[in-house]
Amino acid sequence: MSNEPIVSLRNVTKRIGRATIIDNVSFDVPKGEIFGFLGPNGAGKTTTIRMMVGLMSITKGEISIKGKNVKNEFEQAIRHVGAIVENPEMYKFLSGYHNLIHYARMIPGITKERINEVVSLVKLENRIHDKVKKYSLGMRQRLGVAQALLHNPSLLILDEPTNGLDPAGIRELRDYLRYLTRTEGITVIVSSHLLSEMELMCDRVAVLNKGKLIDLKLIQDFIGSNNGAQTFLIEALPAEQALAAILGIEGVEDAKAAPEGLEVITERDRIPEIVAHLVRSNTQVYGVRARNQSLEDRFLEMTGGEQIG
Ligand SMILES: Nc1ncnc2c1ncn2[C@@H]1O[C@H](COP(=O)(O)OP(=O)(O)O)[C@@H](O)[C@H]1O
Ligand SMILES: [Mg+2]
Repeated sequence: MSNEPIVSLRNVTKRIGRATIIDNVSFDVPKGEIFGFLGPNGAGKTTTIRMMVGLMSITKGEISIKGKNVKNEFEQAIRHVGAIVENPEMYKFLSGYHNLIHYARMIPGITKERINEVVSLVKLENRIHDKVKKYSLGMRQRLGVAQALLHNPSLLILDEPTNGLDPAGIRELRDYLRYLTRTEGITVIVSSHLLSEMELMCDRVAVLNKGKLIDLKLIQDFIGSNNGAQTFLIEALPAEQALAAILGIEGVEDAKAAPEGLEVITERDRIPEIVAHLVRSNTQVYGVRARNQSLEDRFLEMTGGEQIG
């Protein structure tokens, strides 16, 4: 196996009329990754996905899937893709199973075995013979994924899959997407405007705002990236005495009492000196930890406080 990316976008631009909806976007997604596409409503996530799956033309630039160009090798490129772009159409009065049978008839070579396989991949075995109208939103979502997986794609694209799911449903989705990447080697692209969920689900996240790619990073780098001052939580007793001691230390930008301890804004390099000073001031230090900035905070910073839809 080569380490050729599963998906590659090169300088992709989409114009509709005079509006530039996607502006010169490039990124690669390697095999087995859960890749997040994050941005506020109207950022251009769906448009980009529609171009990837051939539902919309590409104004400029190239998109390839497993090395096949979506523009001029469309059939070969799309063969590798399973996608849910709009809400998947389901017959609510049919069982989940019959929905899959119905859909499988449209794809050559899908066996009953494959249907059973995708049902177990999304862990719907126990409910697959119930009518879809009795399904929870999470189960419908899973049935949609099962449908998208029928033809054995290497790439699964889900546009806003967490929309309307409750926290338990989101956790489930995350778990079985992980399971798919691990056991089937499938690559997954999910879009979302919900930052906290991307944080839980993805390996890497691309941030899109107003059609432009403004950042692309490993999820842990997003959260941890902070040169200069950051917030630490210091547990020391007595708290008031500790606070007074900390406020006098050079390099401490701010310190205040919080429920979990003292919130101290300083550079990481200053921590040993702060702890030493607390000890010298006869306070007892029970713990020091960095408080990670959430993805949400980072996102607001990057987009300049843009309203998140
Ligand atoms: N067919 C279209 N014609 C004109 N403008 C469109 C069309 N589709 C999307 N847009 C515009 O493109 C921008 C991006 O939309 P979209 O890709 O749906 O964003 P997202 O999925 O991130 O919410 C929006 O400003 C939207 O109004
Ligand atoms: Mg959208």
